[in-house]
Amino acid sequence: MSVLITGGAGFIGSHTAVEFLNAGYDIVIMDNFCNSKPVVLDRIKQITGKDFKFYKADLLDVASMDKIFEENPDIDSVIHFAGLKAVGESVAKPREYYNNNVTGTLNLCDCMNRYGVKTIVFSSSATVYGDPDEVPIKETAKVGNATNPYGETKVMIERILKDIYISDKEWKVSVLRYFNPIGAHASGLMGEDPNGIPNNLMPYITKVAAGKLPMLHVFGNDYDTHDGTGVRDYIHVVDLARAHLKALQYIEKAGGIDYFNIGTGNGYSVLDIVKAYNDATGIEIKYVIDPRRPGDIAACYADPTKAREVLGWQAEFGIFEMCRDSNNWQSKNPNGYTE
Ligand code: NAD
Ligand code: UD1
Repeated sequence: MSVLITGGAGFIGSHTAVEFLNAGYDIVIMDNFCNSKPVVLDRIKQITGKDFKFYKADLLDVASMDKIFEENPDIDSVIHFAGLKAVGESVAKPREYYNNNVTGTLNLCDCMNRYGVKTIVFSSSATVYGDPDEVPIKETAKVGNATNPYGETKVMIERILKDIYISDKEWKVSVLRYFNPIGAHASGLMGEDPNGIPNNLMPYITKVAAGKLPMLHVFGNDYDTHDGTGVRDYIHVVDLARAHLKALQYIEKAGGIDYFNIGTGNGYSVLDIVKAYNDATGIEIKYVIDPRRPGDIAACYADPTKAREVLGWQAEFGIFEMCRDSNNWQSKNPNGYTE
């Protein structure tokens, strides 16, 4: 039996591939490298000492997807990461985002159905909660009102998966709503490698730490939070990867469709992260306070009780390890993944 990991060359997919290989699973990875590089596949092999099949394929190319299932009849479940994820870009290119993420997922599900594979773990996001009425956020909170096309693709895909399950109860669906994944593999061999100037906080901070950017721009210090800066639930990518193992093992036994918040339950402000980075690495992050970033919310953090009670998963790493491992990745790979 093996697990197909779509988008397995990406940030979260690569860390998840390592956890599955370490747990003794056979995996097949597919990716079109639109936001990743082939060298990551070597890093996965280097870390685990294990081999796996890889397909350069696109969710939008049905023939290339069919070939994977045709040639690997042992695939019996899918962890679905492949998708576009840049919020700002999704506002500029909505058709591309809806097509890649929504049509891509429909193609994948059609293909799975054709080959009788009906178990899927899907990468959703806390973005489906929009601006939450209260924090910490429970899975029962209202979903919808995403503030951008990227977020809306997650809302739509969640709905599609629910309707597929309703139409055919043989499907087993686990929807994981990630909070803010950061950190990197402790080896320093894998991490986040955004193109150009990073949009997200931690990749920006690591570039400031490395002297590649002069200072951090803190987007607003007049939010209703303990120090006025935005509060988020940062989660170590290795903890997040392990949540996929637990989610797959659970849904395979339990069946049905279920939703889980994957976060630590702790909210840290931008300035808390700046301080934690200093504590973990000794590097002082210069910053300046800028106006709020449009579309940002004050505070977003998880109530992760359900994942703990139902999946038996909880985050093991704290903000210290997240900062330490992000910095370790950046310092060992100053230009990200290079061939
Ligand atoms: P990533 O961009 O590093 O990985 C996604 C991978 O999918 C990339 O390797 C990319 O090349 C591939 N891909 C995209 N479209 C494809 C297609 N049509 N066919 C084949 N491959 C394709 O992103 P990530 O941070 O690892 O995120 C993985 C998933 O988790 C995404 O669905 C993302 O929306 C979701 N998510 C990420 C975050 C986050 O902060 N990183 C938060 C919540 C949810
Ligand atoms: C963003 C996306 C969200 C997506 C998530 C995935 C937006 C509006 N939201 O979440 O949909 O699921 O990434 O990772 O883009 N900050 C700064 N300076 C910076 C960068 C960020 O002060 O240079 C602040 C932000 O204002 C926020 C916090 O840091 O308070 C975290 O920002 P970021 O890492 O971009 O994540 P989110 O906005 O939570």
